[in-house]
Amino acid sequence: MNDSWDKLYEDASSCQACELCKTRTNCVFGVGNREADVMFIGEAPGENEDKTGVPFVGKAGQLLDKYLYAVDIPRENVYIANILKCRPPKNRDPLPAEEDACINFLRRQVLLIKPKIIVCLGRISAMRLIKPDFKITKEHGAWFAKGNYLITAVYHPALLLRDPRRKEEMLEDMKQIKKKLDELDLKIN
Ligand code: URA
Repeated sequence: MNDSWDKLYEDASSCQACELCKTRTNCVFGVGNREADVMFIGEAPGENEDKTGVPFVGKAGQLLDKYLYAVDIPRENVYIANILKCRPPKNRDPLPAEEDACINFLRRQVLLIKPKIIVCLGRISAMRLIKPDFKITKEHGAWFAKGNYLITAVYHPALLLRDPRRKEEMLEDMKQIKKKLDELDLKIN
């Protein structure tokens, strides 16, 4: 398929494949370096993301920024997107049918970017992108080989806001991600 960023953005922002288009303020397409070696993929936009059109700008996003900063991965050098491009009402979990309707946009983003590493933010993303029975409490930080990239999952920053006891594990996982980037000599700085 002869895809382009312009076409992909146009398709996503005019999409009416599920009900979420009716309540969206903005399509939350994705942000960052389109030649990144690393992609971070969350679940779905929240209120602030719907307002701004940018993923991970609310409280969870600010916490994500702190982890990226702590392990010396500049946010502007990675690409950040979500499984869903439109906000589910009241931030409920995405429905399987909504994920099915939306996943092709993410697939096209991955095909254009060709990342070497994908990091799933949270269980919903990991269950969709790694395996349906992914258990985030047991398998966070583990690496899986898929196609041309390695994929791992970390806790969703929104979960860390609710359960700060998991923050140490998150920092360790993020350090391991940075170590992997260094080992593979991938460009992030
Ligand atoms: N949570 C997500 O999964 N994605 C966002 O963009 C914001 C919050």
